[in-house]
Amino acid sequence: MLLGTNTTVQAQTAAQMSSPDGTLTANISLSDKGEICYDLSIDGQQIVTPSKLGFEMRGVLKAQQLEYESDGTIDKNDRRPHYSLHDGFTVLGTESSSFDETWEPVWGEESQIRNHYNETLVHLQKGSRLIDVRFRLFDDGLGLRYEFPECNDAPYLCIVEELTEFNLAGDYTAWWIPGDFDTQEYQFTKSRLSEISSVYPQALRGNDSQTPFSTGGVQTSLQMKTDEGIYVNIHEAALVDYPCMHLLVDCEKHTMRSYLTPDAQGYKGRIQTPAKTPWRTVQLARSAEEQLASRLVLNLNEPCALEDVSWIHPVKYMGVWWEMIAGAGSWAYTDEYRSVKLGQTDYAASKPNGRHSANNENVRKYIDFAAEHGFDAILVEGWNIGWEDWANCNKDYVFDFLTPYPDFDIAALNEYAHSKGIRLIMHHETSSSPRNYERHLEQAYSLMNQYGYDAVKSGYVGDILPEGTYHYSQYMINHYLYCVTEAAKHHIMVNAHEAVRPTGLCRTYPNLIANESAMGTEYQAFGGIKPGHTAMLPFSRLNGGPMDYTPGIFETDLKAWCGNGSTVGTTIAGQLALYVTMYSPLQMACDTPEHYAEHMDAFQFIKDVPVDWSESRYLYAEPQDYIIIARKDKHSDNWYLGGVTDEQVREFKIPCNFLEKGKKYTATIYKDAPDADYLTNPKAYTIERRTVKAGSTIKVKMAAGGGFAVSFEAQ
Ligand code: NOJ
Ligand code: CA
Repeated sequence: MLLGTNTTVQAQTAAQMSSPDGTLTANISLSDKGEICYDLSIDGQQIVTPSKLGFEMRGVLKAQQLEYESDGTIDKNDRRPHYSLHDGFTVLGTESSSFDETWEPVWGEESQIRNHYNETLVHLQKGSRLIDVRFRLFDDGLGLRYEFPECNDAPYLCIVEELTEFNLAGDYTAWWIPGDFDTQEYQFTKSRLSEISSVYPQALRGNDSQTPFSTGGVQTSLQMKTDEGIYVNIHEAALVDYPCMHLLVDCEKHTMRSYLTPDAQGYKGRIQTPAKTPWRTVQLARSAEEQLASRLVLNLNEPCALEDVSWIHPVKYMGVWWEMIAGAGSWAYTDEYRSVKLGQTDYAASKPNGRHSANNENVRKYIDFAAEHGFDAILVEGWNIGWEDWANCNKDYVFDFLTPYPDFDIAALNEYAHSKGIRLIMHHETSSSPRNYERHLEQAYSLMNQYGYDAVKSGYVGDILPEGTYHYSQYMINHYLYCVTEAAKHHIMVNAHEAVRPTGLCRTYPNLIANESAMGTEYQAFGGIKPGHTAMLPFSRLNGGPMDYTPGIFETDLKAWCGNGSTVGTTIAGQLALYVTMYSPLQMACDTPEHYAEHMDAFQFIKDVPVDWSESRYLYAEPQDYIIIARKDKHSDNWYLGGVTDEQVREFKIPCNFLEKGKKYTATIYKDAPDADYLTNPKAYTIERRTVKAGSTIKVKMAAGGGFAVSFEAQ
């Protein structure tokens, strides 16, 4: 609903904006050099000081016809000059409007989301180039993006760098992972902005010898906190046909600016007008809990683009997976190096290694267990030929995504699964050859349709082919979305691992039901994850969309189980909590049927917990320390509560004010036992049952590396 539009044609004038409730304000101004700047305040306190916007571009094609001044930089192999699109602007005019709607996500943390903002569109001109900047100010933050109107004389722009600044008013505390154009699989570091370069001096991986010494590169969504207790989060929304943004931090001045992922030639992006960039977002909150409740990133994405969403549904699943990750089984059928070429399917001559997990018998075992306990699906990895030498060889020929190993009967297993109400989840490890994947995509998705798979987990392990292409480059951003939109045509839901971090695109394409794009549970088998990681992810990675974190480890003694030497940084009660605190419409119970069978009383929580919610309440939180959330089931009156802590023991008395007044509930409380500890006694938990109502108090003590979970069943 458009509430009103005012157009002012006052060239060179600054615009002033305030959020719908008036508590956030932003000024847009033009410096005497013609630089366009914005700032941002909350309750009158400036958080972002005047920060410049713009680009450095490279002249191409007909750009000589434009009246740009070259800054003198000439590429070695390319005589076309760089030119600035960050000064010398004239403001042609501004337009302001307001918008207020409430929309319903297909799945989510709540069933209704309010999207309410004031907007200012600034029309700029430099030479004959027109460029607009659109600002949206919400009560929980600011979004801004660049728009390039159609320009037939010079339709094509090559970005040398985007120069969006985020100048922060103080040396804020930040929780960050280092810049890297290929992965986000890192643990978080907490430091002052001024300390980033000393903690991680390498700046950004991949290139960048020119980065000044005092800078560090970090990834978004970047959570920060001012000394006055304002939570500040910088991310991007609606990353489409553009490279992913990193932040280059000037540690001395505590300022930062955008730093886009380069393409194989070192340029940052290619634009053909008309075009728009993703939104740059600055979320502001007066508490950590308020930050977790912000839906600004989703709101800045376009409404659902799919007409029919009836086939999209939340999924609770188990998988032939953790046993391979932990080292108890294998993806490969044989230990012989095969240098597989497409079409070379004769495995009959190979000696089976006896550890191939995706075999008919084992898959049936998982199907039986999952069906008995009410799951929706089973993921099977290692079902297709090529795993013998999938890493570090001519990757373009490893997988065809069509041919099963001889001991995986794709027709019979799907039939068996369907007869028990279970769907199999397809697995496509692309081994980071997007071209090979795209060449096979239509056939691969058609095969899924043929056998009744409706969800795929894809993966991008390794360096991307063609060489020099990064996981977060514009080329790959387009690839990931291409797979999602092609999948939608086949009514297939996508869960992509190692793809770019999400930026709220699941609003537009709700068949993108999850991504990994952060350090997930698999690292508990790759050396372990420090407690506190899962109290951090909702402030960072989850800001853009749900994560396939794959929780549910019950056998924490990996050494006794399969000789894995990692220390699992969690208790069993802490694992249960993750089904509430780590929101995703796709939730896995990652451990094996045997391990769950040893703790069926605790497993009951995983069986009961929903994967879709009508309401969420963020009760207590501090990044990397603890998070406690209550959520209401979308399809019943039941509530669920979960909490996690870092390595500190923490006690909370939680008033159950979220419960409906006048109703009684049976609360089942899964807690760390008094002597539980993630290092010395991770499997010790207690289960207690009592009747509660609104206003009752639940007392919990979370062990080091632990947590708790509660189900409230309406009586
Ligand atoms: C990494 C993924 O995160 C993991 O889940 C998967 O099993 C392997 N790649 C193999 O594709
Ligand atoms: Ca991974």
